[in-house]
Amino acid sequence: EILVSPDPDRTAERAAEAVLSGLARTHSGDPVLGLATGSSPLGLYRALGRAVDAGRADFGTTHGVALDEYVGLPPGHPEGYRQVLLREVCGVIGLAPERLEVPDGSAAGSAALEAAAAAYEARIAELGGVDVQVLGIGANGHLGFNEPGSALTSRTRVKRLSARTRRDNARFFTGLDDVPTHCLTQGLGTILEARRLVLVATGDGKADAVAAAIEGPLTASVPASVLQWHADTVVCLDEAAAAGL
Ligand code: GLP
Repeated sequence: EILVSPDPDRTAERAAEAVLSGLARTHSGDPVLGLATGSSPLGLYRALGRAVDAGRADFGTTHGVALDEYVGLPPGHPEGYRQVLLREVCGVIGLAPERLEVPDGSAAGSAALEAAAAAYEARIAELGGVDVQVLGIGANGHLGFNEPGSALTSRTRVKRLSARTRRDNARFFTGLDDVPTHCLTQGLGTILEARRLVLVATGDGKADAVAAAIEGPLTASVPASVLQWHADTVVCLDEAAAAGL
């Protein structure tokens, strides 16, 4: 389902409705909400916060599952995705910090990182899988940190960040040199197992990536094209991000 709205605020509102309706038909355990970082879903999280304030939603028993995390940032670093999600999601929608799952990017060495990736997959399975996964899209079509060339069936693993993604994300750090070179990310195969996917994209900088993902061929060159494979995907766009469709 492709929902095009006139502006980012309305896009966020519609994405929030898609999240809430997806969580309403959750599996038998506690609801599990997959969380993306980046600027795209911030309006959606604030819209969910307003739904909580209005008594229309309650995330008291919800588990949050992060898409990805940088490798090698010191624990507590403000741009580490655990800290970002604590600020931008837990604090906004009332999700308990102890119910927030983030891959352990502080694990040192490739064996420890591989173990952290496997532990993350196991934790998602233990929670009963993700009910609704919130997604942004990179300007190069990445999902989570699955850069172009990622295997379409990939699982949570260590990835090297592309030069473009490091440049795009340098705005959150003091300079390009401080941006981590690696990350742990859910794989495309992991993401596809969520029961519903809700992707948010706004602004003309995303128009090409959105068009390639939605109307182009399904290809590892555009990781977000895997959305075409999922039976319950809601893509929420403003007119600028939809301009290439
Ligand atoms: C990062 C995140 C992605 C996110 C992307 C886009 O790379 N790992 O999950 O979708 O940024 O960010 P933004 O929404 O700020 O454009």
